[in-house]
Amino acid sequence: MKIGLIGSGGREHAMALALMRNPQRDRLFVYASHINPGIAAVTGEVRMGKMDDVASILEYFNDVQPDLIVIGPEAPLIAGAVDQLRKAGFPTLGPTQAQSQLEGDKSFMRDLLKRRVGYGSPAWQVVTSADDARSFIEKVGEVAVKPLGLTGGKGVRVMGVHLHSLQEAVDDAAHWIKKDGSVLLEERLVGEEFSRIVLTSDGKTAPMPVAQDFKYAYDGDQGNMTGGMGAYTMADGSMPFLTAGDLNKADRLMQDVIEALSEETGEPYRGFLYGQFMVTRKGIYIIEFNVRLGDPEGINEMTLVDCDLPQVFLAAAQGKLAPEALRFAARSSVCKYLVPADYPDNSPDPQFFHLDQNAVEQAGFSLSPASVAKEGGRWKTLGSRTIAVIGLGETPGEVSAKIETLLAQVQPPELRHRKDVGDEQIVQQKVERMAKIRAGENL
Ligand code: GLY
Repeated sequence: MKIGLIGSGGREHAMALALMRNPQRDRLFVYASHINPGIAAVTGEVRMGKMDDVASILEYFNDVQPDLIVIGPEAPLIAGAVDQLRKAGFPTLGPTQAQSQLEGDKSFMRDLLKRRVGYGSPAWQVVTSADDARSFIEKVGEVAVKPLGLTGGKGVRVMGVHLHSLQEAVDDAAHWIKKDGSVLLEERLVGEEFSRIVLTSDGKTAPMPVAQDFKYAYDGDQGNMTGGMGAYTMADGSMPFLTAGDLNKADRLMQDVIEALSEETGEPYRGFLYGQFMVTRKGIYIIEFNVRLGDPEGINEMTLVDCDLPQVFLAAAQGKLAPEALRFAARSSVCKYLVPADYPDNSPDPQFFHLDQNAVEQAGFSLSPASVAKEGGRWKTLGSRTIAVIGLGETPGEVSAKIETLLAQVQPPELRHRKDVGDEQIVQQKVERMAKIRAGENL
């Protein structure tokens, strides 16, 4: 099968590996914004271009004539790549431009839930003035301030975490109002976050293992939000702080949103839907929807895949998904991103570093290169999340500890990562914290 893939990050590298487990049968053609050395090791067929340049994407795949196209990042989805590729006759996995508003416009998402689903949102309001922001915060208490458009996961600021007074929150809202004309305020939720991603096609839905993303820059959830510093999954596909009822409610909400979005746009939804949820004392709430695989969560999930992925994705792109065909190994996983010292606050100059790929592979783990180049056999940072180390095992704690040993050898040591992703004690603390929240303790 000729498979087209759009994107060039760590997630797309993991997708490339999972899609190319049968190189005698399949060939991979990648449309990328930079040469990812990991993807280049999987296929020599890479065309460079901008992620939102739909004409250039279409031109490339018209040359290649793939049997299936899979899209990694949000930019081509929001720019309408799926609409054009399907019109040209290519089975394409991803939502249409209208459906991608669910990620591209946070007020569309909240409004859709309000109009067509009726549950799942915290108190929220789109405000256009500092006075309205102040009134809303005085009414609901602490809030998260969320720019309405895409910010790569980095624009959201939360009272009590980044914003330490009513005035700071109003000032942050005013900053976005000046820039964008409006901003979304949401009641701050207290609980544990989890990422549920499903593959869905024409109303049929196949869930992937639940992941927990570590979004803050530093250990202990300190610092600014990032695109995600790492994630873990559990062998049973859930999280130890979730009940079966919690997960059922999250899945019902996903299903209701897929139905609402398909009805609203008049088109079946075919692709990934990623619900970033918070479980709280009062139940399950949605923090954000994304219309793609998560990064890093997708690295965990693609590494766990235990089925013929090209056939499953092709069936989903054609509206014929058999949910039971998407299978995952019953193992735990941990993924940790190595990042430049100042990430995400500054984009430092490129820097050479040493990370022993052989040692990682001998440990049975793998690397997913992301914002990184390879020059003269040496790794070079390009500014954003650099390279992920991913491993599988019995428990996240065991895998996390092994990754720590591998990353201790990185030179220079200024490149950093979060040590606490999947750590045994941290996972246990999350379980205990959630038990206290359910018991009504004020944390
Ligand atoms: N892990 C956050 C994201 O993919 O947006």
